[in-house]
Amino acid sequence: MNWSPDKTQVKSWNEWDTLRHVIVGKADDCHIPPEEPALDAKVPEDSDMRGQWGRRPQETIDRANELLDTFTDTLRKRGIRVDRPTPTDFSKPVTTPDFHTDSQFGCMPPRDVLLTVGHEILEATMSYRCRWFEYLCYRPLMQQYWEEDPNFRHEAAPKPRLTDADYHDDYLSEAIGIEKRLQWTAEKHFVTTEEEPLFDAADVLRFGKDLIVQHGFTTNLKGIEWLRRHFPDHRVRAVNFPGDPYPIHIDATFTPLRPGLILNNPNRRLPDEQRDYFKKNDWEIVDAAQPAHNTPPPLCYSSTWLSMNVLVLDLKTVCVEASEVYQMEQMEKLGMEVIPVELRDAYAFGGGLHCCTADVYRDGDCEDYFP
Ligand code: ARG
Repeated sequence: MNWSPDKTQVKSWNEWDTLRHVIVGKADDCHIPPEEPALDAKVPEDSDMRGQWGRRPQETIDRANELLDTFTDTLRKRGIRVDRPTPTDFSKPVTTPDFHTDSQFGCMPPRDVLLTVGHEILEATMSYRCRWFEYLCYRPLMQQYWEEDPNFRHEAAPKPRLTDADYHDDYLSEAIGIEKRLQWTAEKHFVTTEEEPLFDAADVLRFGKDLIVQHGFTTNLKGIEWLRRHFPDHRVRAVNFPGDPYPIHIDATFTPLRPGLILNNPNRRLPDEQRDYFKKNDWEIVDAAQPAHNTPPPLCYSSTWLSMNVLVLDLKTVCVEASEVYQMEQMEKLGMEVIPVELRDAYAFGGGLHCCTADVYRDGDCEDYFP
């Protein structure tokens, strides 16, 4: 059935077919959460965020929301349906029988929480305590889709316990140093243990029948195995990027643009033995252009490589952050029409244009790109 704006349908099998319906996050009430193991391991050692926590300054929240609202308008003007989450009170502490955290995170970015595969939207386990309840912000939408689309499967992965047994102690020391971190990443020694299945949705890229999943800080091998058993009709492939000292969320590292073409972060190259799978099936992996900035904006978790965190609207059109001149230029050379979207002042809230969205509907069916 074709998509129509007056009928809710959930379906998306990949990152590139024509986008019709999407969720865009909100910055309301976002907090920098207090210290906790998995999050601390991710905060860069030279970051201005170390040791800071609390509600983000109101003017930064307002500015991020202004940009997210403008992005929403841009998509709507192109005929794309855009829904927004319902923020909860993130200042509230969370206590379960297994852990306590003094505040939560926010409802940015949706890509981390919601994994759309075909007619299903799966709520990820998550791996930070402060993000354990983030799915609640999307429940009003999930409920609505469930009421309106009889084919929609709303699923939630088993909530993890997130006790201290989920995290490796040696990642908790103050100064580990980049060299040690790179060695650990190469050895696939990450902050999360194999205590129980853990994954964030943003570690997964959808290539039709293949799900490509980054094994790193936020997704462990049991999480990948859980996805494999949950999606028995898919091939689930684990990938690693040894050059990344803080490996979380694949979408500033590996960016498929269309069938046969992937941008790879040149500092985090996919190892040769893992490239073969793509090569054999005629996929080209090209180095992404350099970011336009030398440093991330203030109070930001992510690296400058959010430059390659783009949202593909269809096989010829891509949204790129407006200040990322080199990335825009590369896209044009690759034959894409670029829509510049200003978002840099919202990066601190958890990411770029791909991160701050979650697919609800794209045209196309589940294809096998690796026959
Ligand atoms: N780890 C990435 C980097 O700093 C950021 C990825 C953000 N993605 C996301 N879905 N939140 O380069």
